[in-house]
Amino acid sequence: MNREYADEVNSAIEELKRDGRYSNLKKYIQHGNVTVFKHCRNVAYLSCIIADKLHVRVNRKALIKGALLHDYFLYDWHEKNSNHTLHGFYHPRRALINAMQDYDISDKEANIILRHMFPLTIVPPNHREAWIVCMADKICATGETFENIKLISRVKFLFS
Ligand SMILES: [Fe+2]
Ligand SMILES: [Fe+2]
Repeated sequence: MNREYADEVNSAIEELKRDGRYSNLKKYIQHGNVTVFKHCRNVAYLSCIIADKLHVRVNRKALIKGALLHDYFLYDWHEKNSNHTLHGFYHPRRALINAMQDYDISDKEANIILRHMFPLTIVPPNHREAWIVCMADKICATGETFENIKLISRVKFLFS
């Protein structure tokens, strides 16, 4: 693990924990046996790797904060509940509403959160940072779903 990325991601997490409900993400499972908290951390970490290895100029703070909040929907989407139907389509907006209640969110960070499910949600991202998080999310989700850590490490290897 690249120490620099890990330190940046961890200090952003500490900042988020101070104000909002960020620790609640540890209560919910996202994919396989991975919590939403760990998933968001994975996505933030991989987003840094992708940006650097592809030499994409990004606002690193926004990239990490948006990635950490992209699934800030704060419920267990596996629970059968009428509010949770079509989770895939609606959770980005839910995450953004929650994030705006708890934190100052820039336009770029909002775009990262709202557009991360593209192409399922048909409007594409309109910032480089949002494209990167959208890509990192799919890679992490695939790896986590199949509990195939090797898949993520292989991707890391490709970029290293
Ligand atoms: Fe999501
Ligand atoms: Fe996600």
